[in-house]
Amino acid sequence: MKLPDTAQRIHELIRKINHYNHQYYQNSVSEIPDYEFDTLLEELSGLEKQHPDLKRTDSPTQRVGGTITKEFPTVYHRFPMLSLGNTYSEDDIREFDRRVRKAIGETVEYVCEMKFDGVALSLTYENGVLQRGVTRGDGVRGDDITPNIRTIKTLPLTIAGDAVPALFEVRGEGFLPSDVFTQLNKEREDIGEALLANPRNAASGTFKMQDSGLVARRKLDCYVYSFLADQTPFDTHAAGLVQLKRWGFNVSPTWQVCATIGEVMDYIHRWESARFQLPLATDGIVIKVNRYDQQQELGYTAKSPRWAIAYKYPAQIASTTLKGVIYNVGRTGAVTPVAKLDPVLLAGTVVKRATLHNANEIARLDLRLGDAVFIEKGGEIIPKVTRVDLTRRDPASQSIVYPVHCPVCSTPLIRREGEAAYYCPNEKGCPPQLKAKLEHFIQRRAMNIESLGEGKIELLFDKGLVRRADQLYDLQPEALLGLEKNIVDEETGGVRKVSFREKTVENILSALRKSKEVPFKNVLFALGIRYVGATVAEKLAAYFRNVEALAEANFEALIAVPEIGGRIAQSTLDFFADPDNRQFVERLGAAGLQLATPDAPVVLESNQLVGKTFVVSGLFAGFERDELKQKIEANGGKVLSGISGKLNYLVAGENTGPSKREKATQLGVRIISESEFMLLVGGQ
Ligand code: IVH
Repeated sequence: MKLPDTAQRIHELIRKINHYNHQYYQNSVSEIPDYEFDTLLEELSGLEKQHPDLKRTDSPTQRVGGTITKEFPTVYHRFPMLSLGNTYSEDDIREFDRRVRKAIGETVEYVCEMKFDGVALSLTYENGVLQRGVTRGDGVRGDDITPNIRTIKTLPLTIAGDAVPALFEVRGEGFLPSDVFTQLNKEREDIGEALLANPRNAASGTFKMQDSGLVARRKLDCYVYSFLADQTPFDTHAAGLVQLKRWGFNVSPTWQVCATIGEVMDYIHRWESARFQLPLATDGIVIKVNRYDQQQELGYTAKSPRWAIAYKYPAQIASTTLKGVIYNVGRTGAVTPVAKLDPVLLAGTVVKRATLHNANEIARLDLRLGDAVFIEKGGEIIPKVTRVDLTRRDPASQSIVYPVHCPVCSTPLIRREGEAAYYCPNEKGCPPQLKAKLEHFIQRRAMNIESLGEGKIELLFDKGLVRRADQLYDLQPEALLGLEKNIVDEETGGVRKVSFREKTVENILSALRKSKEVPFKNVLFALGIRYVGATVAEKLAAYFRNVEALAEANFEALIAVPEIGGRIAQSTLDFFADPDNRQFVERLGAAGLQLATPDAPVVLESNQLVGKTFVVSGLFAGFERDELKQKIEANGGKVLSGISGKLNYLVAGENTGPSKREKATQLGVRIISESEFMLLVGGQ
């Protein structure tokens, strides 16, 4: 393609992809099948790699990230990012209205919006192209986090149309949708990582991550709520919101024009409980004078506009008594203290338990048994104890003594360096850890044997039939039939009977049989290797193809896998270094579980690469990495997982690390590019 044609094609691809993205993310309309969309994106990415000079800052390929920023530059805001006066009192809101009307002397209309609880962002557009995204910082200067901002799928990278001002800013709230947050924590739980406290902290941490590729995977979103320019093309804030929506921004549909303060009050009351259905946390509402000329007339104080105010909903707090502390032991042995409370109503639910996080938190609260405590529900789902009412403390009350032994198996607890949690190190004998490992094994995303859920695992464990998941496959119907147990629900105190009748046994055995077809990646996840969540398991399974290759891989070979870092590599090594774990895996293999990814049938194209070995690393313009490996095999070559003296070629794409190149050079391995590889197989 000639250069002007390429530029034209890039232009066309960007326009098309942006259109489909907008339809998909803003309007939930899928206009073309996924693979067609991916083909367009790949074509664009390929053209950009061949012609880096034609790569545009508004290209949708930027959305997948890839930039690493060691330190975000600090930049000044063109318009300072002010804060809002806020109040918890409805009287103050009426007073605000009186002040406004007195100053203006004519009728005033308001716009009410939700007050989103995320991270304030300022986005600069020049000639319709997103140029910069900055955090609030101190209001005068913030961090330039543009590569991370570009990963927000609902934020237009380009705006088309006649009336687009040459330079303007959009302000909004970046956030992690509640369902994404829940999923993220579920994944962290899977791999035994500390849970993120709430969606706002998670969003704020994500916006500051150095690797925009990781940011892209977190699915951040942004609701925009202000338009700023030297000359605004609209007369009212409401018209601005409508236009922002038309330009493709994500504007929360919750805003409303209110003609009177009475309507404002109705809005406040209506959203008080309805706000919990929204996809993100909110902590109040913002009331803004609608007309820009009136806003100007009212002006600003040093810190905030006189034309707006925030009404904050009272925090969801309740006061109750601490009855005791129980200590839960999780799959990884982490001990979590949980407060047992006198039941109390909070935000529509009866609360009997609240998290105390860890020993440090108990010390910080200076908690004692029998204390009157305040509990709160913030953005997080589980309530937490936030404060002790010292005025009501019984002077004779006893401090809480954090256990030094596991509350279940009595093993002395340990604390790992740099971690707040205590752990029970008895991973092979501690009942709650063993049970949690079994629960992990049977879950849907692992072996999908959910007919074993709801107390049945506990029953099998307590009867001594299953201590480790491989024993599930030895179960005989006769041993199961008639088993029963009363299980006491800790929450309600209610008793539930679990029993194995004929139908139950049939279901369990059939689910166990079916689980033998579950692909290797799920089995690998089910093993419960620390830090190996479902996504990592998929990557390892695709790369090493079978469990033997994975078990034999050394540290270098493991970190050679894209996106596998030192921590995962080490825990994988530790897992396979343990003979019990090796025996566990062997027994699963003997039971018939899938411990390998079936090879795609190789259609032989030529014998050009027979006897030659290859390692493939980095990103390629014309291939996915797996496709390149298939191409090698289709031409008779062999793909290895690590660089060694035996290796003939390292096919190095973009992003191949310098250490890998160095090692290959030292060992005399030839390093070839994608195009040199194509010459080897007779392509061009
Ligand atoms: S307008 C002059 N609208 O609240 C300030 N802010 O205390 C204009 N916020 O940092 C801000 N939802 O991050 C506005 N609908 C909304 C908002 C909102 C949340 C945050 C924003 C700002 C803080 C101000």
